[in-house]
Amino acid sequence: MMTKNVSATAPLLGVNIDHVATLRQARGVTYPDPVAAALVCEQAGADGITLHLREDRRHILDADVYRMKPLLKTRMNLEMATTNEMLEIALEIKPEWVCLVPERREELTTEGGLDIAGQVDNLKSYIEALHGAGIQVSLFIDPEPTQIDAAIHCGADAIELHTGKYSEATLSQDESTINKEYNRIKQATEYALSVNNEFIINAGHGLTRANVHPIASIPGIHELNIGHALIADSVFMGLENAVKAMQAAMQGKEYQV
Ligand code: PXP
Repeated sequence: MMTKNVSATAPLLGVNIDHVATLRQARGVTYPDPVAAALVCEQAGADGITLHLREDRRHILDADVYRMKPLLKTRMNLEMATTNEMLEIALEIKPEWVCLVPERREELTTEGGLDIAGQVDNLKSYIEALHGAGIQVSLFIDPEPTQIDAAIHCGADAIELHTGKYSEATLSQDESTINKEYNRIKQATEYALSVNNEFIINAGHGLTRANVHPIASIPGIHELNIGHALIADSVFMGLENAVKAMQAAMQGKEYQV
């Protein structure tokens, strides 16, 4: 069982290594290896490794997940859709965490949160099956009180708040949307903690060194899952430095390479 991060300084960092596999799949070759990348991230100080086994296997492949699990020293957070196929794989691999996400074939990335309120019974039994194998479950949701209530009702151990709209607004420097979306994430965190103070609240999507500090500073956020921008940074500074630089940015600090 994972204990909750009560650090007053910064949340934990889970590194999403899907984008290493995206580079590999672009050529259909065997490099770069996302498993090797995960181990470098751990050595650099990442608190966990996140990977998304998509139905269309566009980046991470089954073999990556099987190979990675026994090698990780931190923990695996396996993102997946709520399907029977994925349930079977998760029960076999037994990652420490599963994060349930919505999935659409035509999307570039996970574009919105799960609509839990509309599928409570289905999710309850799905989560029970994962719990039966000792796997903790997080639900990727939009920062909305109705979704938070439904997540707690379903028996989830954690939620991950979708920060995509906040992140997009920071890229277009749309101040009023940045403030609005930041407040939604902050208020959703406060709301979830007011319902259950022990509940684990993670966040992620689209976070960069430039926009991460306000989100990392929200009291009660346990962990941030960050991939695309961190792997992009690694092109210029190397993967180990990119992990360290993101951790520094989460604390509002500069990192010298
Ligand atoms: N959290 C979840 C649930 C995701 O689906 C993703 C994207 O795969 C991330 C975090 C990381 O997002 P990004 O790659 O934009 O940092």
